[in-house]
Amino acid sequence: MSYENLLVEKRDQALWIIVNRPDKLNALNQMTISELDLAITEADRDEAVLAVVITGAGDKAFVAGADIGELATLGPEEAKAFSRRGQAVFDRIENLGKPVVAAVNGFALGGGCELAMACHLRVATRNAVFGQPEVKLGLIPGYAGTQRLPRLVGKGRGLEILLTGRNVSAEEAERIGLVNSLCDRGDLAATVDELLGRILANGPLAVSHCIEAVNHGLDLPFEDACLLEAALFGIGAASEQMREGTSAFLEKRKPAFRS
Ligand code: COA
Repeated sequence: MSYENLLVEKRDQALWIIVNRPDKLNALNQMTISELDLAITEADRDEAVLAVVITGAGDKAFVAGADIGELATLGPEEAKAFSRRGQAVFDRIENLGKPVVAAVNGFALGGGCELAMACHLRVATRNAVFGQPEVKLGLIPGYAGTQRLPRLVGKGRGLEILLTGRNVSAEEAERIGLVNSLCDRGDLAATVDELLGRILANGPLAVSHCIEAVNHGLDLPFEDACLLEAALFGIGAASEQMREGTSAFLEKRKPAFRS
């Protein structure tokens, strides 16, 4: 599959999706959103792909937002459809049954911050800058930033970042839980690989079920979420992977989840 605005590379077990419009700081135009959708489908279908990494080309930006040139021309119905389309693609990222890591290598503003938040985990370089500056353009975030940001950092902090449109440094992002960890610029790929290595050593079905339980459970009443957890726990108990994991522990050996 070839893309105009993405570079898609298989590195070991992970599919690296690199947003590639560096002269526009990797801003997400509509074509890039459609291509992201296709690349996620590719990652979903390919059994040899066990994880996804999303990053930006160049060393300045992850993604500096939706393409403001495109945004500026939208009428109300078009703007709503634009928002719904981006939300749907980001939902697919969030609900992929394989771990998705954002490797944030610079500006992650507006749609870029929203894209990073749709990923399951975020590793950022120390020069990364986050924020939802849409209010400065007289807009609100349209790719679920008003929903994912307060869920990640809390309502008060989320609102303050949304209402001021201010930048959030990488250090602050780590402190408030917007990113999982920081690293130096040259160490980004190795840091992501090390994180994925630790995840992919675990039972793949269990990893996928954790993603499902957290994604769906957080939007349910607690009791219903616990029921979902118990149902997934039950499905896991019927799996060969569970037998392998528990037997390996009892036999004092490393589990071999993938033959
Ligand atoms: N949409 C479209 N183009 C964008 C863009 C975006 N979100 N962000 C950056 N670009 C383009 C710039 O227009 C410029 O293009 P040009 O060279 O053809 O003029 C190019 O990327 C480089 O950006 P520039 O602004 O010159 O870089 P900078 O280092 O001076 O500033 C930023 C970097 C990130 C602070 C600045 O680009 C910016 O504020 N971008 C918009 C962020 C934003 O509001 N995002 C939310 C959108 S809803």
